[in-house]
Amino acid sequence: MKVRLFKPSLGDEETESIKDTFSRAWLGLGPKTREFEKAWANYIGCKESIGVNSCTAALHLAISAFKFPKRKKVLVPVLTFAATAMAPLYNGLEPVFVDVDKDTLTISVEDLEKKYDKDCVAVMPVHYGGYPAKMDEIMDFSRNKNLKVIEDCAHTAGGEYKGKILGTLGDISCYSFEEKKCMTTGDGGMICSNDKELILPLKSSRWVGMNKDTWQREKENSINKGNSHWYYEILELGYKYNMNDLSASIGLAQLKKLPVMNKRRMEIIGQYLDGIKDCLSLMPALPYDKSQKCYWMFMLRVKNRDKFISFMQQKDIATGVHYMPLTLHPYFIQYQNQTPNALSLWKEFVTIPLHADMTDEEVNYVIENLKAFDKLN
Ligand SMILES: Cc1ncc(COP(=O)(O)O)c(C=O)c1O
Repeated sequence: MKVRLFKPSLGDEETESIKDTFSRAWLGLGPKTREFEKAWANYIGCKESIGVNSCTAALHLAISAFKFPKRKKVLVPVLTFAATAMAPLYNGLEPVFVDVDKDTLTISVEDLEKKYDKDCVAVMPVHYGGYPAKMDEIMDFSRNKNLKVIEDCAHTAGGEYKGKILGTLGDISCYSFEEKKCMTTGDGGMICSNDKELILPLKSSRWVGMNKDTWQREKENSINKGNSHWYYEILELGYKYNMNDLSASIGLAQLKKLPVMNKRRMEIIGQYLDGIKDCLSLMPALPYDKSQKCYWMFMLRVKNRDKFISFMQQKDIATGVHYMPLTLHPYFIQYQNQTPNALSLWKEFVTIPLHADMTDEEVNYVIENLKAFDKLN
């Protein structure tokens, strides 16, 4: 048996939705993207959502919405994917790396307070693996210091914090629909906020700075029957970051299945937690809460990680490491500072298979092998 680490859960629903988009023969930015944006806003309960082609693009544009003066600083957890820290840099701002909490591996509020100085303009909490950052404390601190909060929700889609959906607590939130994530559009992302005025200008930023996209002009022209359908104005330096209707049609089908996919992932996590409760050489990496609605990945802390990875490899069970602290990468060494928790803890992290299509047989096979490894160690 070969067990994949992640796998998009795709079926007839997605195929039918793609066929519908094919039959309209409008694959670019258009009505399906708008439909998906509205459905997404409705799902998380926010006022506006803007579809883009990745969460990386979403984070870049989200920060740009605030028009911060250049060379200001943005507080970013050191344990995250590179895109979180690149977003300030794309905007001419400096990332300041903050250590993580030892238990939740989300941004440490204690260290946030230490790293803050008067040049800081924003903070980017990451809900690590879907585990909620300490949003109450982060919001209190941020409001006090006049920091904007951009939630990096790449690892969650429907997870909650104290009864509120993650991505509705900060000023702007950004989601990922890359193929391995909680749900997918192939590649894709969403920028969400309750402040419409703040993010609506990003519609032009995602469409090369134009005031109207092609679908909008087509629609207006079919009503006005004029001859100026070709006319648009470029208002700013923009990017080709739009979501397209082909991706959105996959997203619409995936969104309908998301609660079932989230439930299945939670079921598997429950089985993993029960299965490894007596193991001494490995433990859950996070204080997973079985009543949570959505986690994206399941991570262990294993003392002898290399040995564990080789053992699993021999059994054809895929593993991963999320993540090496960013300041260990050559590019980010220049931004290195004190993050002792992340630098010591990450050496034990291993991600094991978790996706909605995993069969009971596969889950049991993984658990059997976790126990077998534990017995030998
Ligand atoms: C925490 C985090 N933020 C942002 C991203 C970027 O997402 P995307 O691949 O959609 O650009 C990722 C991707 O894995 C991520 O893990």
